[in-house]
Amino acid sequence: MHKDCERIMLTEEQLRTRITEVAREVDERYQGKRPLVVGILKGSIIFYADFIRHLSCPVELDFMAVSSYGSGTVSSGKLKIKKDLDKDVRGRDVIVVEDIIDSGFTLANLKALLLERGANSVVIVTLLNKEERREYDIEPDYNCFDIENEFVIGYGLDYDEQYRNLPYIGILRRELYEG
Ligand code: IMP
Ligand code: MG
Repeated sequence: MHKDCERIMLTEEQLRTRITEVAREVDERYQGKRPLVVGILKGSIIFYADFIRHLSCPVELDFMAVSSYGSGTVSSGKLKIKKDLDKDVRGRDVIVVEDIIDSGFTLANLKALLLERGANSVVIVTLLNKEERREYDIEPDYNCFDIENEFVIGYGLDYDEQYRNLPYIGILRRELYEG
């Protein structure tokens, strides 16, 4: 385990098993369709890569980078589009793949934006869900794990751009971001 982790919350094995299960459920829903799978950079990349490998329907891949966070651990401010999609979403069935839903600010805004642009449907798939922290009216359609209110790192998730490459989800030591 990395020295900056308090403990491991989700092991590689737990992640693999649950992601496979959720991806198969999503796949059933899209039989006969051709969804546009939108990954939210950068946090979702590892989850995204594992998730799409279990889809059997034809998919198109696209990415967006948005920010609501600075380098800290508290969500704030307005949604900023740092990198927009390459594809036009008009009439498309969009699957948004996100690392974690915290306050819900990012996805509430993003879903509204994609629908406003004319997407036929927008389905949200998230790896982690911090239900307790929700401030905006948004729920994932598919959620791999409900987690407690802890700041987590690894498997794509960062603290100040570090730790994304850890193969598991770990809890960041509090002393590293408090006081
Ligand atoms: P929301 O807009 O408040 O729902 O925040 C979503 C974004 O905050 C995610 O895409 C993450 O980038 C970031 N975030 C929230 N909680 C954590 C965490 O525990 N670890 C790392 N990033 C987090
Ligand atoms: Mg993020």
